[in-house]
Amino acid sequence: MRLLPALLALAACSEPAPPAPVPAAPQDHLLDLPPAPDGPAAFTPPGRDEIPEGPFGDAVRRGRAAFTDTAAQAGPYMGNTLSCSNCHLDEGRRPDSAPMWAAWGQYPAFRKKNDRVNTMEDRLLGCFTYSLNAQDSETGGPPPRGSQVLTDLQAYLFWLAQGTPTGRALPGRGYPALEAPPQPPDVGRGQQVFAERCAVCHGEDGQGAQAEGQDVFPPLWGPRSFNWGAGMHRVNTAAGFIQANMPLGQPGSLTVQQAWDVAQFIGAQPRPADPRAAEAGAGTDARFHDHDCLYGETVDGHRLGEGG
Ligand code: HEC
Ligand code: HEC
Repeated sequence: MRLLPALLALAACSEPAPPAPVPAAPQDHLLDLPPAPDGPAAFTPPGRDEIPEGPFGDAVRRGRAAFTDTAAQAGPYMGNTLSCSNCHLDEGRRPDSAPMWAAWGQYPAFRKKNDRVNTMEDRLLGCFTYSLNAQDSETGGPPPRGSQVLTDLQAYLFWLAQGTPTGRALPGRGYPALEAPPQPPDVGRGQQVFAERCAVCHGEDGQGAQAEGQDVFPPLWGPRSFNWGAGMHRVNTAAGFIQANMPLGQPGSLTVQQAWDVAQFIGAQPRPADPRAAEAGAGTDARFHDHDCLYGETVDGHRLGEGG
């Protein structure tokens, strides 16, 4: 998307959206559902030691393992070594970190991203395709429909969501929409925020740190990161996630401006191609990137998007 429209869209996106009825107008991010009736307190999922015995509990335990060490459970279907819990913090429990207990009761839902009603299985396949970059995996794609790992993940999500109302937006769902920055986001200022507040864990080069094949600190860009189709490549999504959750252990410590700037900086780095580009070719930008992102922009002489 071109930068000027991106900035305008960014300003427009900061307006609080009016609540929509349940069969909401198509949106490419989260459906705007009416709030849960029981007030604003975030839901508390069951304790980690409350997983029941028996075959269902076993599936929940396997799903939890797949959520927190995804490569160990689903390695052949991932082109990187990220885990679900790298972006859905605290094993998918943390409010404002797209927690799984808030997601479960929202599906099936229409998604503009693929223009149809998505089941939870579809949604999880999307995570493998984009966030876990399945195109570069050993098998070249996400787990097959109905496979054990998809069932186990759903058992875990369902268990976390015990007692939540279906079809209601729970407080803490998704990543918070961050208010517009005082000044347009700036890659140069973002680089400085990155060096001062992020590089200590994610590395000067943004490639994180690995131990025994697992990401101790996940990479934020480059060949082992999420691809150009993943939700986190959107500057507004990343800014909301970062302000609410990063630096790890110091949530809310960045100013609104710093969060936008560092998200813009990360959004201006190369990452694996959008898998939809294989089919959509040169039309990928217009068709799939009409939102707040830097796909197709030229930064430092490098054209972002296809191939990096
Ligand atoms: C690189 C970061 C990243 C990784 C890794 C990741 N996700 Fe996500 N996930 C996102 C983003 C971004 C969204 C969209 C949130 C938004 O738009 O506010 C999302 C949304 C979701 C949703 C829908 C949430 C809702 O409330 O509707 C589910 C379910 C989900 N992810 C599950 C998973 C699972 C399971 C895995 C691992 C197999 C995974 N994700 C891996 C970033 C990630
Ligand atoms: C103290 C170490 C630490 C610092 C400092 C830190 N992070 Fe993180 N970050 C993490 C860890 C660990 C995760 C994965 C979370 C998990 O698995 O629990 C993460 C996850 C992320 C993710 C999502 C996963 C991915 O691969 O994209 C983003 C984006 C991110 N951090 C951005 C930032 C930014 C921007 C800063 C600086 C403002 C920052 N982080 C500072 C440790 C840190």
